[in-house]
Amino acid sequence: MSTQTARTEAAPIDAVLLFVTTGVLAFGALLATALSDDRLFRFHGWMFLGAFVIALSVMTVAITSGRLRSPQTEYADGVVRAGVIATMFWAVVGLLAGVVIAAQLSWPALLYFPEHGWLNFGRLRPLHTSGVVFAFGGNALIATSFYVVQRTCRARLAGGVWPWFVFWGYQLFIVLAATGYLAGITQSREYAEPEWYVDLWLTAVWVAYLFVFLGTLWKRKEPHIYVANWFYLAFIVTIAMLHIVNNLAVPVSGLNSRSVSLFAGVQDALIQWWYGHNAVGFLLTAGFLAMMYYFVPKRAERPVYSYRLSIVHFWSLIFIYIWAGPHHLHYTALPQWAQTLGMTFS
Ligand code: HEM
Repeated sequence: MSTQTARTEAAPIDAVLLFVTTGVLAFGALLATALSDDRLFRFHGWMFLGAFVIALSVMTVAITSGRLRSPQTEYADGVVRAGVIATMFWAVVGLLAGVVIAAQLSWPALLYFPEHGWLNFGRLRPLHTSGVVFAFGGNALIATSFYVVQRTCRARLAGGVWPWFVFWGYQLFIVLAATGYLAGITQSREYAEPEWYVDLWLTAVWVAYLFVFLGTLWKRKEPHIYVANWFYLAFIVTIAMLHIVNNLAVPVSGLNSRSVSLFAGVQDALIQWWYGHNAVGFLLTAGFLAMMYYFVPKRAERPVYSYRLSIVHFWSLIFIYIWAGPHHLHYTALPQWAQTLGMTFS
């Protein structure tokens, strides 16, 4: 009986599940890389494979050494610390890319190599925008949401090792997106440049993130769900919805890096700006407001001035922001009524 308990302790079910999932993914990545005749697809296939093999090795060591036994601390803060380091790391990368493209606007020949386009302005610009918004901002949001939800719910993060999957899965997404931009893999949708297979990967990571967050809310010891968590949840759910709809596309083949959007013409433009506008609204606004609703009162050592007003704030942001996307398409082929709608809600 005691041996049985020790064995179960050494390999918790969440870790086994993650291990098996990673193994299956590694096998899939190996097959896809071996069978594809698309050079760029293979380039990313190797990256997926490398990441999964490293993850399998690390998990093997962690499981066999018994490091994943019942947690000793009240809160899971290791993943938060890793998130803060990643946030600062990507801030440096993203801002550096910003400085380089600023210099390129001044000196257009800078880093322009006619034989390949790896470092030209067109490829470095999305590296900057996605770098600062998704890598720097996204990591800040994931890290702080993990910190805040635990404190405000008085509960440890749900999912055992899965918050680590969210963290590393997100870093892999960033590396795939960034190297894809440099290599010229893009579906040309602003702020959503990564191709279909990277989008699928982000969807998987994001669903895991949603489950970890919801699971923590579910097991909370605090009866009330503090307003910061409302904003975080709105950010997670809305980004999922925007990401999925904006990226609906048909791949040229299952082994090719290119895809064709499901939308065309003005409908496509509307979907893109519904996405672009609300990515700012729900990632850069709702998510960061969540941070402020926790950290500002905490540092000031005072409760929010009016909790009722914070709830009015939440629902007005949610109901009004989401309609304002068409203001990015004024004086275009978009029907007049849709432009007026976007303008009014703005
Ligand atoms: C060292 C600091 C920064 C530098 C030097 C820099 C530089 C630039 C440059 C040169 C552009 C392209 C402008 C163009 O194409 O005409 C740009 C665009 C952009 N940057 Fe930065 N940036 C910096 C920091 C940031 C930060 C902190 C953020 C957000 C967190 C940010 C978000 C953006 C966005 C969203 C765009 C696209 C704007 C648009 O298309 O209208 N940047 N940046």
